[in-house]
Amino acid sequence: MNLLVNGSVRSVESPPDKPLLWVLREDLGLTGTKYGCGIGRCGSCMVHLDGVAVPSCMLPLAAAEGLAVTTIEGVAAGGRITMVQQAWLDHGVSQCGYCQPGMIMGVLALLGESPRPSAAGAAARLNVLCRCGTYPRVLKALRALLGS
Ligand code: FES
Ligand code: FES
Repeated sequence: MNLLVNGSVRSVESPPDKPLLWVLREDLGLTGTKYGCGIGRCGSCMVHLDGVAVPSCMLPLAAAEGLAVTTIEGVAAGGRITMVQQAWLDHGVSQCGYCQPGMIMGVLALLGESPRPSAAGAAARLNVLCRCGTYPRVLKALRALLGS
């Protein structure tokens, strides 16, 4: 099937029930999207489907047909990083970095909402687990983006 990923149509030959996470990583080489729990709980595999953040580990390939898939590799339009990535750099959020693509995809989806949540509200809804415990810095970066 054809899959629209990061603005390009990509042809994939995987079975329709293969999780999108593994299609992205194994078939398309987009390894920015990470595997954590595999059961939809940790958020490290978060991508956008038509702008909505979803865990790709639980999503069969067939469910993405006809929708725009965006991964962390696709968010920096024209080579310019997003305001979320800049805030993450400014506040030194990342530690090992493993959860961060999912975290950033989650925040980008929240920024697209109207009305935007407060920083505390966004933090409460992020639902991305970080084993390094970067949460205090995540909250600082969210405050810079969203106010408190
Ligand atoms: S790997 Fe998908 S939510 Fe954890
Ligand atoms: S930065 Fe290491 S798991 Fe989150």
